Amino acid sequence: MKISELFNVSGKVAIVTGGSRGIGEMIAAGFLANGVKVYITARKEAALIEKANELSAKYACECIPVPCDLSTMEGMTNFVNFIESAEEHIDFLINNAGASWGEPYAEYSEKGWDKVMDLNVKSIFYLTQKLTPILKTKASIDNPSRVVNIGSIDGLNVPALESYAYGASKAAVHHLTRVQAKKLVGENILVNAIAPGPYESMMLGAAVNHDYSLIESRNPRKRIGSPEDIAGLAIFLCSRAGAYTVGAVIPSDGGLVGTAGHDLSQI
Ligand SMILES: NC(=O)c1ccc[n+]([C@@H]2O[C@H](COP(=O)([O-])OP(=O)(O)OC[C@H]3O[C@@H](n4cnc5c(N)ncnc54)[C@H](OP(=O)(O)O)[C@@H]3O)[C@@H](O)[C@H]2O)c1
Repeated sequence: MKISELFNVSGKVAIVTGGSRGIGEMIAAGFLANGVKVYITARKEAALIEKANELSAKYACECIPVPCDLSTMEGMTNFVNFIESAEEHIDFLINNAGASWGEPYAEYSEKGWDKVMDLNVKSIFYLTQKLTPILKTKASIDNPSRVVNIGSIDGLNVPALESYAYGASKAAVHHLTRVQAKKLVGENILVNAIAPGPYESMMLGAAVNHDYSLIESRNPRKRIGSPEDIAGLAIFLCSRAGAYTVGAVIPSDGGLVGTAGHDLSQI
């Protein structure tokens, strides 16, 4: 019952997709600070390698960059081949890489729709499918592997922005999480989702010109999420403490979804 045992993740091996910045970087940092070896992915190779070097040095723990485009089957296959050549077993898969696309309703393009759906939904299904054997290698009833899908409160609420595919994709992520959880729990792989609210990132920053003050003022907690908020929840889900939580979609949003009466129309 000691915290040091309940939340211990030291010695584990994780994959964090989209770990070069934003929420993925925050979760990778939380793992590395607590002794988890972390593989991070992104398309932009130079930024990814720089981030892996920075995180490895900062936390004195191994962070390995694997450049790849996870929105294509070829990119996923190449990534899985690399992981299988490097590791016998993966303990945690954090399906975080995601994209958004905003356009007026009448002009909303197929290109944008497919970009969002391919990365946010299709790649979560196929990457998890392809990694299931390596997630199973050492998984047992007392030591289950974990998959954490990063959804969004935009999949729980109706988004304010004209990001039609995004909200639909995130609702799909939440339901896919339950479907995957049902299939994989018998293999000792526990699947859950985190539905973040506003966190500082390139994705959200671009939508608000990197001025988070309005969002902060409208949040019940009067701030945006911090690295500790998202890393702490990911560590909970991956630790002994989270080992009886299966198929859950947990908001991390300062209370936007959970508290009644807040005006979500501007979030
Ligand atoms: N920030 C928020 O407020 C917020 C709120 C709710 C949910 N979320 C979710 O949290 C996740 C992370 O978002 P973020 O805000 O941190 O976004 P971000 O700053 O844009 O980071 C996205 C990450 O994914 C990588 N990526 C994008 N496309 C990729 C592809 N095709 N293949 C491989 N990697 C790819 C990016 O690197 P490259 O560009 O180099 O590929 C980057 O590392 C997403 O699923 C997002 O929907 C974020």
